[in-house]
Formats: sequence, C-alpha cells, structure tokens
Amino acid sequence: MPYIYTVAQIGNDIQIAKQFLETNEVIGIPTETVYGLAANAFNDIAIAKIFEVKNRPTFDPLIVHTHHIDEVRKFVTDIHPKLLALAEAFWPGPLTLLLPKQKTISDLVTSGLDRVGVRIPNHSLTLDLLKLLSFPLAAPSANPFGYISPTKAMHVDKQLGSKIPYILDGGACEVGLESTIVGEEDGQIIIYRLGGLSISSIENVIGSITIELNQSSNPKAPGQLKSHYAPKVPLFIGDLAELEKTHSDKKIGVLAFGNYTPLHQHTIIKNLSPHENYTEAAVNLFNYLREFDDMDIDVIIANYLPTIHLGIAINDRLKRAAWRI
Ligand code: TXA
Ligand code: MG
Repeated sequence: MPYIYTVAQIGNDIQIAKQFLETNEVIGIPTETVYGLAANAFNDIAIAKIFEVKNRPTFDPLIVHTHHIDEVRKFVTDIHPKLLALAEAFWPGPLTLLLPKQKTISDLVTSGLDRVGVRIPNHSLTLDLLKLLSFPLAAPSANPFGYISPTKAMHVDKQLGSKIPYILDGGACEVGLESTIVGEEDGQIIIYRLGGLSISSIENVIGSITIELNQSSNPKAPGQLKSHYAPKVPLFIGDLAELEKTHSDKKIGVLAFGNYTPLHQHTIIKNLSPHENYTEAAVNLFNYLREFDDMDIDVIIANYLPTIHLGIAINDRLKRAAWRI
C-alpha cells in the first residue's frame, strides 16, 4: 500500500506538485470549473490510482488536460474543423472535446473507447504546472464517485485528503460547474454533457448542434448518469412555496434563485443569485449543496431556473442531484 497518506499537504507550490506527479502520485489540482484529481495521463499505474482514490468504476473515462493545442495534437489523430473552431474560441476554458485518440493514450484513460476527452483548463497555476511537466494530466473531478464536485481546496481535503499527498490550492473555482463535453459523430456536433460553457456560446461559433444527454445506466459519459452530483440530504424541485407547505414538518433548506422570502421563520435560505445572475448562480450551486449537506436539515428544496444561459446546465445538475425522487 504505497500511497496511504493520513493528511494531504495543501499549498500552492507547483514544484512540489510536479515532484509528486513525476513519481506517479495522485494530487488535487484547481481548474476554473471544479477541482480535479490529477495524475500522469501516460502512466497506467498513476491512472489506476485515480480510480482507486475516487472509488470510480473503470467504465468511466477520464479527461486529459494539457496547456496547448500543439500538445493535444501529439495524442489525437484528428480534430474536426468545427471542434477546432470551438477549441480556438474557448480554450483555455470550460470545454472538453472528445477526439479520436492515438495509441499513446491507454485504454484505462478512455475505458476502451476510441475517443479521448481533452481540455485546456483556464487556471493560471494549473497551466503553469502543465507547462512544467513532460506529460498531460488525466483528471476527473476530485470528489468520491457520484457526490458533488469540489470547488474549493478544502472540499477536496475533506473527502479525499486522507488518500492523497498534496492539494494544489488555487482558490475558489471561478466557473463552479464542470466543463461542457462536445464531440462529433458522422459530421454532427453533439453535446454530451451540459456545463460551464453555454449552448448559446457554442452555437454562436459553429451554428446549431445536437444535444444527447442520456440517462441510461451505461452512458457514453457518466456525467449523463441519472444519479450524479448528489448531496446526501434529499433534494426536491418545484414551486418553493408549495414545497415549503408539503415539508412543513421538516427542517428545510431552500436553494433559491432571485427574490424569495420563506414562509416559515425557521427555514434556512441560500440564494444562488438574488439578482438572477447565472454566472454567480453556477459558482454558488455546488458550494451551497455542500453547505446544506453539512447542516442539520431534513430536505433541500429548489426551483428550476429559467432555461437560458447557464440556467440550462444548472437545471441539469439540480435534476441529477434530486435523483431519489
Ligand atoms: O470540468 C471538468 O470537466 C472537470 C475538471 C477537473 O476538468 N473534470 C470532470 O471530470 O468533470 P469527470 O471525470 O468528473 O467527468 C468527465 C466526464 C465523465 O462523465 C466521463 O465519462 C466523460 O467526461 N468522458 C471523459 N472521457 C470521455 C470519452 N472518451 N468518451 C465519453 N465520455 C468521456
Ligand atoms: Mg465528476
């Protein structure tokens, strides 16, 4: 058992991060979307440790992170012109492209699929780290499988700090939702996971696209799993006042968006964005779900956001977080 650690060191030293990664350890890294659990994408032992630390099924492929599109070209065979247009418009940023892989990317990274998920994250500390390394970093979100993604170093520490040696602390994530996953099949551009890059931003660059968000138990992207991103406290979605009445005998946490005054004095309210700013709401979503999970409440109630901008991706996460219902 070479990698049992009792306490992760937390710091912002990319040299220390580099040393751990070069010895095939797994560490926490910041990105603008959520924190990642990173290891050498070219080393199967390092990759296997990610699955073990995260308790993640191996049918769930990993995203490979680099700092430049020239690095991407070294391990993919082709970039469809429309996907290239997206890469040029949005990298570094909250966009993952599924691209046909070269043999240098092992089946462990892609779960045996022909395409590899690739992303250039928009976080200066992690970009500096990636530039120092001679290999890209495979990294899923740094949460136990199925739970809410971490948007602060302390979230990673709380759940996985005993299993990894180092967490690179880059502050709170500026986007707060995972990347949008896009690929191409038979000339069609498809969104497989909604995320921090809105559909409208993508369509502004390449025109209309197909959205394929399966809810099966054997999805192409487990971000498509019906139960994902879920807090432990049950979450109900609907009209807030109605839900407050339905659950009036319970301790309620309200996840609101825009103006809302609770009916009961004892109801705890967290407002994703009192002034209905979608970017702010995305940043707060996972934080507030975690905060509610740590409180003495029985249920979380929330309402869907208007389906514009990041409201669509936020609703997707809410729906999956409310999977029990
Ligand atoms: O914002 C993000 O994407 C974060 C940060 C750390 O980059 N990462 C992240 O990774 O959310 P993860 O593993 O939690 O979610 C990535 C999703 C998974 O649902 C996975 O199945 C899908 O991407 N994925 C990765 N590679 C894929 C592939 N080759 N084909 C289909 N789906 C893929
Ligand atoms: Mg994840």
